[in-house]
Amino acid sequence: MALGLADDARERIDAECEATYFAGRGMPSAGELLENVRDADGLLGSAQLPVTAQVIAAAPRLRVVSNFGVGFDNVDLAAANERRIVVCNTPGVLSDAVADLTLGMILSLARRIPQSERLVREGNWKPESGMPLGRDLAGKTLGIVGLGRIGLAVARRAQAFDMRIVFYDQFREPPAEAAYCEYRDLDDLLRDADFVSLHVNLGPESRHLMGAGQFALMKPTAYFVNTSRGQTVDQAALVAALEQGQIAGAALDVLEHEPPSPDEPILSAPNVILLPHVGSATVQTRVAMRDLAIDNLLLALRGERPKAVVNPEVLD
Ligand code: DGY
Repeated sequence: MALGLADDARERIDAECEATYFAGRGMPSAGELLENVRDADGLLGSAQLPVTAQVIAAAPRLRVVSNFGVGFDNVDLAAANERRIVVCNTPGVLSDAVADLTLGMILSLARRIPQSERLVREGNWKPESGMPLGRDLAGKTLGIVGLGRIGLAVARRAQAFDMRIVFYDQFREPPAEAAYCEYRDLDDLLRDADFVSLHVNLGPESRHLMGAGQFALMKPTAYFVNTSRGQTVDQAALVAALEQGQIAGAALDVLEHEPPSPDEPILSAPNVILLPHVGSATVQTRVAMRDLAIDNLLLALRGERPKAVVNPEVLD
């Protein structure tokens, strides 16, 4: 069972499987999945597909869940592990795309690109109140929370902008190629950084990692960027921090509820740039993710080791 895919991708799957495709714009709900997984040996879907314990229980033949994405918070891992279902994702192939967007968001905040663009459209080429002046990146401190593949790709780019880079991660030593990144505990990083960028997986330890206490530690001139998962942030606390001027601004590619309802306070919060979860949304990256997700699916169904496994213990 797979989500809507282009013809050439379907051909690869159809050559080895009898597949049901869900086309359309959104993910099937857990309810729709429940109705359709009874005979499924494999599931291929985006990292927003809700593969709950209930879905897993309703799919007695299920052997593989192949995520089109690096995140896997959509899968109940404990339930998958219990049934020895292999869960796969697409790490690596999207790191550059997400890192590019992260730098774009940092630049948009620092140089006030969206505000300046609006001025031109509003016929306000030289506003009486003066041009919206931005800030330089050179010499500023970027705090990277989570120095994994994507965090490292962000660090490389930020280094080219002459930024100083500090990081927080469960591993205190930066990898050899990132020796220029200095470890800080999270509180020190938040106090020190001019830009804070989150690059963590969503799990119990990272849910609401950023809350009122954390925003209070940041400088009033500092910016917050999130391209990881919306639930890593207590969004109400972020809105309050923006409204009270505790931080200078934020750029979010992910929200606590996606899509947000029209009355979500974040939509009217000041100094915030919002994007619709497009971190990996480039043509090349999406093709690479799709191909890797299909490789993972087909390898697992053949009984071979997939290329990227989240829970390798079920294969041992
Ligand atoms: C990912 O790869 O996890 C992206 O967030 C897309 O869902």
